[in-house]
Amino acid sequence: MNTQLRHLFTIAQKPERRIIGLMSGTSLDGLDVALCRIAGSGPATSVTLERFMTVPYDDSFKDEVRAIFAKRQIDFEQLCLLNPYIGRLHGQMVLDALREWHVDPAAVDIVASHGQTVYHAPRSQHRREGFPNATLQIGDGDHVAATTGIITLSDFRQKHVAHGGEGAPLAVYGDYFMFSQAGENRILLNMGGIANFTYLPADEDASQVFTTDTGPGNTLLDAYARKFLNQPYDQNGALARAGQVNADLLTALKIDPFFDATFPKTTGPEVFSRAYVEAAQTRSQTEFIRPANLMATLVQFSADTITGAISRVMQSGQTYHVYMSGGGAHNPALTEVIRQKLPNCIFANTTSLGIDGDAKEAVLFAVLANECLIGGTTSFGNRQGVPSITMGKISLP
Ligand SMILES: Nc1ncnc2c1ncn2[C@@H]1O[C@H](COP(=O)(O)OP(=O)(O)OP(=O)(O)O)[C@@H](O)[C@H]1O
Ligand SMILES: [Mg+2]
Repeated sequence: MNTQLRHLFTIAQKPERRIIGLMSGTSLDGLDVALCRIAGSGPATSVTLERFMTVPYDDSFKDEVRAIFAKRQIDFEQLCLLNPYIGRLHGQMVLDALREWHVDPAAVDIVASHGQTVYHAPRSQHRREGFPNATLQIGDGDHVAATTGIITLSDFRQKHVAHGGEGAPLAVYGDYFMFSQAGENRILLNMGGIANFTYLPADEDASQVFTTDTGPGNTLLDAYARKFLNQPYDQNGALARAGQVNADLLTALKIDPFFDATFPKTTGPEVFSRAYVEAAQTRSQTEFIRPANLMATLVQFSADTITGAISRVMQSGQTYHVYMSGGGAHNPALTEVIRQKLPNCIFANTTSLGIDGDAKEAVLFAVLANECLIGGTTSFGNRQGVPSITMGKISLP
């Protein structure tokens, strides 16, 4: 047997594995690196988050990615070059993190690499006859493996698409395994560029569990923070809090058919972009709205669509606990409106469940890699639209 395959075989038989989860979201803020110890699989998965950091991207890198990100027309050579470039960069960032933590790379079993999403096109969005759901993450796993010397699992979303899913959100698997709790109705609300939530009913019935996108989280807020403030984001929602919601623009923003579609569903910055906001401004004749009022309206738009979606799973007489995560949980302008709109829910951060809210998405990919190696038997019934599947491609160094 190939010695690297033998090594993989040994890792799969260990009672506990050390897996680094990597996530680079649509916000392009940085690479989330989560060093986890994982034992068990399926609902018996137990995760200890040993270390976590977000390695920020510099502006020139963000510009290189933005040249192709979520764009229908791009320079094809740029895409081709970025694929290995991002893989190597992420590999190097892993090595840097390990050095800072004084952890020997040889003591890490697996890297679980999400890569960088550059385009997301579910069927409901591209509407092209005969074409399937599609999503594309770059930063090839072979480059991560070769750079780090660690066996790397990557490109998790493609298998989900291959089985008829939209490739997202994949949070359903890890959220159910890590956070489902008998006797408590839980909503795990992650607010990244796009917001999504996982519904975990108190009876822990896997066939009722699902994750869905709700629409924009921070993506529009960040786009206008870049425009108005020349900052990557509106720090603590300061600009939004200085403004008033414009009701006409808010109504115009809510017209996309995505919001009425059934769960689970996904979307991306391909839809919710500045062009989307500008079209809504034209329809509502709010082209000359003040920056602060536009920002306040965009916060309300994210909050209304998030809480509207969550309300659809809530039944009267039941109590729901909402656990927030992702960068949007740091934006008080956003979280205050969300809390106001769901007065009967009990709010906390996933940190209170033992996983830092900023690390959660990266940890989820570590869990998916663990599941690929030793699990793969949990059935989610029809609610998630895709049967129990094993995700991730294996790159040997
Ligand atoms: N103090 C803060 N005030 C306002 N917004 C913040 C603050 N801290 C973080 N954010 C927001 O969080 C974003 C980063 O969130 P996060 O890393 O969860 O998103 P992401 O990279 O798109 O991930 P994913 O797509 O996996 O959800 C920033 O771009 C910013 O909008
Ligand atoms: Mg991020």
